[in-house]
Amino acid sequence: MSGASIGIFDSGVGGLSVWRQVVHHLPHERLIYLADQAHVPYGQRSASEIQAFCHTIAEQLLALECKAIVVACNTASAVALEPLRRALPGVPILGLEPAVKPAVSLTRSGVVGVMATPATFQGELYRATVGRWAGDVQVVEQVCIGLADLVEQGELEGKRCDASLRQFLEPMLAAGADTIVLGCTHYPFVIETIRRLVGPSLAVLDPAPAVARHLGAVLEARGLLQVGGEPPQHAFFTTGDPQAFDRALARLVGATCRSLPLAWCNGRLEAR
Ligand code: DGL
Repeated sequence: MSGASIGIFDSGVGGLSVWRQVVHHLPHERLIYLADQAHVPYGQRSASEIQAFCHTIAEQLLALECKAIVVACNTASAVALEPLRRALPGVPILGLEPAVKPAVSLTRSGVVGVMATPATFQGELYRATVGRWAGDVQVVEQVCIGLADLVEQGELEGKRCDASLRQFLEPMLAAGADTIVLGCTHYPFVIETIRRLVGPSLAVLDPAPAVARHLGAVLEARGLLQVGGEPPQHAFFTTGDPQAFDRALARLVGATCRSLPLAWCNGRLEAR
């Protein structure tokens, strides 16, 4: 199995913030990325709807001979990670949870802010993470409706992006947060804009490097880690517009690739 690929998926381009860290930390692994852009954003959808998408996507990645799956989406992880693990018990499945633990150990003001989608905040995973790690640190939850859409549209800076970010950052700053957790994989693509707006004294946390390192440890422990070999040819699939996705790939992670189109058909994924 060590020659097989790692499947990474998200509702759209956000999971590429995880993809680039996995490429960096595990350079010999071949990655198959699937963007469900037909359904982006996931953040305001119901748990059952997101779970159904995730099950079909995971099956698709296994059909493409993936040895492990990374749910590179906080929203999908919040509602579908445990059901996926139960449905596919032999497969290592990693998810994203807001980086509350490192934020709690970093904060000096005793207030941390978390930026995420509504579905992430409603999920049990988020509640459990806060319950486990927050202690007496105050956690300010900031729902960021529309921010993932801006990233999908490639608006990573400029007036509209600044205005939208200011409105999300303001309540966390007013509450005294000195540490901000990016609880959605789309948001690291605007981390520079966030840093410019909040200034250098605030810490802004992207969990993707830790996830990539954890993935390496999980693969190694199971004897699945690919060490050495030819540079891998990564593959990309989208349920949206492949040309637009190729432009996003170049813009966001500097990859020049041709993604392959998939279509949803009666709840199943098919090649287009
Ligand atoms: N990238 C996804 C996440 O990490 C969410 C964006 C969406 O709403 O689809 O939560």
